[in-house]
Amino acid sequence: MQGAIQFELNGEPVVVEGLSPTTTLLNYLRDTRRLVGTKEGCAEGDCGACTVVVVERGGPQGPGFRAVNSCLLLLPLCHGKQVFTVEALRDSDYHPVQHALVAALGSQCGYCTPGVIMSMFEACYRTDLDAGWKLDDQMCGNLCRCTGYRPIRDATTQIAGTRPPGRFLKVLSSTGPTPQALDYRHQQQRFSVPTSFTELFDVLRECPDARLVCGATDLGLDVTKKHVTFASLVSLHGLPELAKLEVRDNHLLIGATVNLADLEDVCTTTCPPLARMLRFFGARQIKNRATIGGNLCNASPIGDLAPVLLALGARVVARSHRGERVIPIAEFFVGYRQTALEPGEILARVDCPLPPKNARVGAYKVSRRRELDISAVAAGMYVELDDAGLVSCARIGFGGMAATPARAANVEAALIGQPWTAETCTRASQAVTTDFQPIDDHRSSAWFRRKVAQNLVAGFYADTLDSPQPNLPDRPVSTLLHAGGQP
Ligand SMILES: Cc1cc2nc3c(=O)[nH]c(=O)nc-3n(C[C@H](O)[C@H](O)[C@H](O)COP(=O)(O)OP(=O)(O)OC[C@H]3O[C@@H](n4cnc5c(N)ncnc54)[C@H](O)[C@@H]3O)c2cc1C
Ligand code: FES
Ligand code: FES
Repeated sequence: MQGAIQFELNGEPVVVEGLSPTTTLLNYLRDTRRLVGTKEGCAEGDCGACTVVVVERGGPQGPGFRAVNSCLLLLPLCHGKQVFTVEALRDSDYHPVQHALVAALGSQCGYCTPGVIMSMFEACYRTDLDAGWKLDDQMCGNLCRCTGYRPIRDATTQIAGTRPPGRFLKVLSSTGPTPQALDYRHQQQRFSVPTSFTELFDVLRECPDARLVCGATDLGLDVTKKHVTFASLVSLHGLPELAKLEVRDNHLLIGATVNLADLEDVCTTTCPPLARMLRFFGARQIKNRATIGGNLCNASPIGDLAPVLLALGARVVARSHRGERVIPIAEFFVGYRQTALEPGEILARVDCPLPPKNARVGAYKVSRRRELDISAVAAGMYVELDDAGLVSCARIGFGGMAATPARAANVEAALIGQPWTAETCTRASQAVTTDFQPIDDHRSSAWFRRKVAQNLVAGFYADTLDSPQPNLPDRPVSTLLHAGGQP
């Protein structure tokens, strides 16, 4: 096991010792390395000013550069990785993405520009940016106060998928560093990156209060906003078994550390309802880091994946030194921000049955803003009909309606055995009031939450009329440019 954090920064090996393991990559770059091209805006993953790229080799599209928010990335999470900042792009000449942004007049004050460039850099080497919404999705995590987004989008359109030959393409075709276990200690803090389950469960036995971490898109906020200094953190990113994503026997088996960008990619064809929810989940930089394990284990009542997984009847596989046990997702959330995981147990994978073609399935997220916002209400709905057209199975999951994500038992009971009609759904929607007593908070009132939940149940019928598992339209209407504007 190594005692120092080791990774590659802009093509050079780096060894880090003597820094707190909760130092963020952004602070390390700016304060220790004086690489001040990378900027800080919000320090909470919302603005994209701090964007850098990390090489990921295991995604469904093969090796690629992934734009990530360095403000949330704890330094030990870079262990064994290759990181590039804006400073690396210029060689004897500027990189084509920099030329493209200049030519499109895509920068004014320039504060957002390094982050914009790094998101464009990911776009430049992606091979799957074949639709307008994907370009929007690629860039929507980069805020710009002064230039306006059209020139930035024009420049991204120019360079997306061009993959210019040269040293960066060589990085993607090389094998990259071999992951090594890490046991990093600094003063009273410890950060471990085990590479086998034996090492993992040994560390958890030694430090029963250790906090697990994956993408750190939640936990990073405790560091940057609440200034928590964790005594012991254990990252799961060194365990290859947890990063597997496969379809087997009509089930999607999702390893705990699979990131949500990869999950969305695979679900677009295999599980449209999950892909539909992931479309409006955070920005590309967040989805490149956030994991399904972290999303379920933070047990947030407004986590977006739980309602869809409740509707799909998913199961969570927990693992400890004793072995594995399976928990139906409906039994996983046991209280406000509490899960059924026992001490020493981790969430290892999610086993999600793929819905049969004729099952009606919907996924909905209602928030104040369509993109990059937190849900007021999220829902997943699943209905099967028998040969007579009567509802034989109904699973309706909600987030934002109670202290935990939960199924609407009374709505489900009101659907079962009934003919699948608009009237049935409208009648069943009334049962939302007996299933949930939502709260008023700054995101929405209890009245609004109830009303929205009822409308979603009633609207589910119409939404699944033409296609039982509707995908999102490529461009939701509010972003269409009318009267001769470009699509
Ligand atoms: C800007 C921004 C936008 C966001 N947008 C959304 C959104 O649209 N919808 C949404 O639902 N969430 C959103 N989030 C929240 C967050 O990104 C997700 O919940 C994400 O999936 C968390 O995954 P992670 O790997 O980063 O978790 P981490 O931060 O690494 O961990 C979160 C928690 O889970 C625990 N944990 C992690 N993995 C495991 C495991 N395998 N076993 C046991 N415990 C584990 C950790 O100990 C920690 O307590 C957003 C966050 C940010 C910063
Ligand atoms: S500083 Fe705003 S996303 Fe990191
Ligand atoms: S150019 Fe000023 S914030 Fe984007």
